[in-house]
Amino acid sequence: MLEASTSRLAINVSRAGRLGFIAGGTDPATLNHRLEESKQLSYKTFNCRPQLFNSSFRSLAPVISAHKPAVVWLFAPKAEEDLREWAMRIRDATDGLAPICVQVGSLVEAEPSVALAEPNFLVLQGLDAGGHGRRQSASIMSLVLEVKDRLAAISKAGAHVVLAAGGIGDARDVAAALVLGADGVAMGTRFLVSEEAGIPEVWKGETMETGDGGVTTTRSTLCGRLKENHDWSAIYDGRAIRNKGHDDEEGDMVDDENVRLYKEDLKPGDSAWGVHLFRNRCWPGPLGPASTVYYGKEYPTP
Ligand SMILES: Cc1cc2nc3c(=O)[nH]c(=O)nc-3n(C[C@H](O)[C@H](O)[C@H](O)COP(=O)(O)O)c2cc1C
Repeated sequence: MLEASTSRLAINVSRAGRLGFIAGGTDPATLNHRLEESKQLSYKTFNCRPQLFNSSFRSLAPVISAHKPAVVWLFAPKAEEDLREWAMRIRDATDGLAPICVQVGSLVEAEPSVALAEPNFLVLQGLDAGGHGRRQSASIMSLVLEVKDRLAAISKAGAHVVLAAGGIGDARDVAAALVLGADGVAMGTRFLVSEEAGIPEVWKGETMETGDGGVTTTRSTLCGRLKENHDWSAIYDGRAIRNKGHDDEEGDMVDDENVRLYKEDLKPGDSAWGVHLFRNRCWPGPLGPASTVYYGKEYPTP
């Protein structure tokens, strides 16, 4: 949740008794600043440092070592094998103290991830999830049961804390995930609309106003392609609100033209963002991974 996951958001989620995550990003200096900021803002009983999203572990390792975060969250390695090295380095850097959380989107990914990283928390990301996720995935309805059963068969039952993610927006969803057998949940999109999220108000407004996520959101790689971000492995796409970019793609517009129009739309800059831009071309522009899904619910204060 690059940009959205501010230190303030992570702290307030943690103050509410949950675990707030800070986006690791790829720039060690920015991450260091965010973690420093979170230390200054935290009050006495806030004794676990916010966690890290990871995308380029090597450069972030010294920061992890210096801050000793409470949990380190890993997702989307280029190669599965990377997880082994990341987990080893995190444990080295934190004297084995930082629990490791790995997010996966299918049974076929869960098994090797558990073997390679031996995570303390396994997040099962269903295909309703906003943001990047596995192209070939399933809803948490089948994912949680399937993975839990398999883990029980191959390893010490109960060795992993399993969290469900994807489409969880309020207490009813949390209850449903617990009934499925999850030990807890991870939420992203819900927090995009929080006051603390570091994204433009128009993005928050658009997220609140978008109903019927089955029709108004879509899984695609278009947002990354428009931003000319080709870093993601081909097994991932992402869920975002549908917009003109998606319509044009379905109308056979080639990427070069879609990219050109996207850049035109961005010219006014963040300050000029308006709802028309969201409806017009792929968003959220320069702010990071495009995504959201809103299920037509009224979001109560968490
Ligand atoms: C805007 C946005 C950005 C995200 N960025 C990341 C990320 O950088 N790393 C990551 O592991 N997951 C990321 N996620 C996915 C979350 O980890 C989680 O799987 C997802 O938000 C759960 O589904 P939900 O959005 O329906 O709550 C992102 C989600 C959103 C909405």
